[in-house]
Amino acid sequence: MKRIAIFASGNGTNLENILKHVRRRRIRAEVAFCFSDNPKAGALRRARRLGFSTIMFTPGHFPSKKLYEHELTRHIKREKVDYIILAGYMRVLGKEFIRVSRNRILNIHPAILPSFKGTHAIKDAYDYGVKVTGVTVHFADDSVDGGPVISQEAVPIQSGESLPSLEKRIHQVEYRLYPKAINLLLNGKLKIKGRRVIHK
Ligand code: GAR
Repeated sequence: MKRIAIFASGNGTNLENILKHVRRRRIRAEVAFCFSDNPKAGALRRARRLGFSTIMFTPGHFPSKKLYEHELTRHIKREKVDYIILAGYMRVLGKEFIRVSRNRILNIHPAILPSFKGTHAIKDAYDYGVKVTGVTVHFADDSVDGGPVISQEAVPIQSGESLPSLEKRIHQVEYRLYPKAINLLLNGKLKIKGRRVIHK
C-alpha cells in the first residue's frame, strides 16, 4: 500500500476528513505521519485524537528554511513516504524540497485557480464580489498555489450570502473533492503533461 504524509498548519478539518477516509478504507493508503509547522494547530489535536502519529517543528527551530525543509525531507525518506498531501499547509515549498518530491505533492485551494491565490482565498473572492468561486486540487510546485490542476468544482455565491455560509459550503466541496483526487493519485490514474493533468 502507498504511504502518505499529510501536512497542515491550521484547524485541520481537511486532514481529519482524509484520516477518516483512510480509517474507513475509502482511501487505501497508510498514513506515515501528520506534520504541522504550528504547535497550536488543531490539525495536531485531530490527528492524535484519531490515533495517527504526528510530527511538529517550525522553521524557527532551524537556522534557515533550507535546513527546516531538509529535516522534513529526512522524515519523508525515513518513513518511505510516496505522496505528500497538503491540507491547509500555509508555507510555500522550497525548490529543493519540490525537486526531491516532484509530482508527488498534492494541494487543495479554496478558489478556482489561478484566481484568488494565497491564504485568504474564500474572503478575497467574497470581497471581490465574484458570482462563482470554488475549489481546486492541484500538484504543488514551488510557486504559491501553482502547479498542474487535477480537479476543480465551482461554487456559485448566492445573492445576499454571508461569508461564513460561503466558507461552510466551500469546505463541504473540499471534503468531497480532495479524497477523490487522492484516490486518483494513489491508483496511478493521473499523468502530468506540461501544465495539463490527464486522467487515465
Ligand atoms: C482549506 O480551505 C484549504 O483549501 C486552505 O486552507 C484551508 C484549511 O482548512 N488552503 C489554502 O488556502 C492553501 N493556499 P482546514 O485546516 O480546516 O482543513
